[in-house]
Amino acid sequence: MSKISVLFVCLGNICRSPTAHAVFQSMVDSEGLSQQIAVDSAGTGDWHLGHAPDQRTCAVASERGYDMSELRSRLVEAEDFNRFDYIIAMDNENLSNLHAMRPGDYEGQLGLFLDYSQQSEQTEVPDPYYGGDNGFAMVLDLVEEASAGLLAHIRLTSSEMQSL
Ligand code: 4NP
Repeated sequence: MSKISVLFVCLGNICRSPTAHAVFQSMVDSEGLSQQIAVDSAGTGDWHLGHAPDQRTCAVASERGYDMSELRSRLVEAEDFNRFDYIIAMDNENLSNLHAMRPGDYEGQLGLFLDYSQQSEQTEVPDPYYGGDNGFAMVLDLVEEASAGLLAHIRLTSSEMQSL
């Protein structure tokens, strides 16, 4: 059985997409699905390549039990369109950059993370980098909620998961 693979993408890959990476991975692990679903994250900008997630992101995540210490920033690359079934953008700018890179024959799902969310007030995960500390908690709230929606979607739609 091949794994279903999910790539979360933001701008710097040090705040929002690593949060999604850690939260979704934790959900996958606690549901016993780590052999079925692979998770990764990347950024469209190269300022923080090789860096650990932002300390403010790590602090908020750690308060809720998520460990991000192993994650390092990397760029989205063309090969990602061969590797990932889901490429999920945090905001419309990330999405339009991904559309520009998308090969014509990509058959996976390329879309916005909050399309999987039940709440309808926000359509994008806002960039918290230049804002105050409450922006980081808000990112985590949105990410936790959308992660649950994404996992429910994958369970419903992928034939690999029907028997689980
Ligand atoms: P992220 O946040 O895209 O959620 O990782 C940002 C991190 C760094 C920068 C912008 C956004 N930056 O301009 O360096």
